[in-house]
Amino acid sequence: MNVHFSSDKHNWGTPQFFFDYLDEIFSFDLDPCAEESNAKCKDYYTIKEDGLSKSWEGKRVFMNPPYGRELPKWMKKASEEGIVVCLVPARTDTAWFHDYVIPLASLVYFVKGRIRFEGADHSAPFPSMVVIYGLGIKLEFGTLDLHLIREYMSDDNIRFKRLLSGTELANSNENDERED
Ligand SMILES: C[S@@+](CC[C@H](N)C(=O)[O-])C[C@H]1O[C@@H](n2cnc3c(N)ncnc32)[C@H](O)[C@@H]1O
Repeated sequence: MNVHFSSDKHNWGTPQFFFDYLDEIFSFDLDPCAEESNAKCKDYYTIKEDGLSKSWEGKRVFMNPPYGRELPKWMKKASEEGIVVCLVPARTDTAWFHDYVIPLASLVYFVKGRIRFEGADHSAPFPSMVVIYGLGIKLEFGTLDLHLIREYMSDDNIRFKRLLSGTELANSNENDERED
């Protein structure tokens, strides 16, 4: 089996548009499983520091963990910390899904469409889900539609949203030296 098409590959990078969409909602400040080349936040841990052994307390965490045998340990850790948003394969038949997701998560969003991870030539051969811990609510399920997110995060749309929120208007007024 070609490892590039397998969920056994341990360093699938999250597509930037998908991370940006979630980041807009959560304003993440820690990526606990990363490498210098694929870290999604300014604060991150690599395998050398071992993000699993660190405290994530007080951080808003985005976690796309290494897959395979390591994954359950990351889900256990995520379920014990505060607000942690996890992008993981939607393996609903696994022990970790039933031990750490169903009884402990706040939200589970199943991704509609297959994610093409950073560095991959093709879309993943497995479905993905976003599991969110630490919101203090009873488990709810929902859908994240890749096409809608891509559209929402398009350059035109982001510019439009900035315009609406006044950021761009404020910037365009920066050089305006009128005194009222
Ligand atoms: C699926 S990738 C995610 C990369 C990136 N955070 C992203 O979302 O695009 C998982 C990363 O975790 C790193 N990793 C593996 N074991 C780790 C550990 N114990 N502590 C921190 N990072 C680790 C791998 O090197 C890999 O880059």
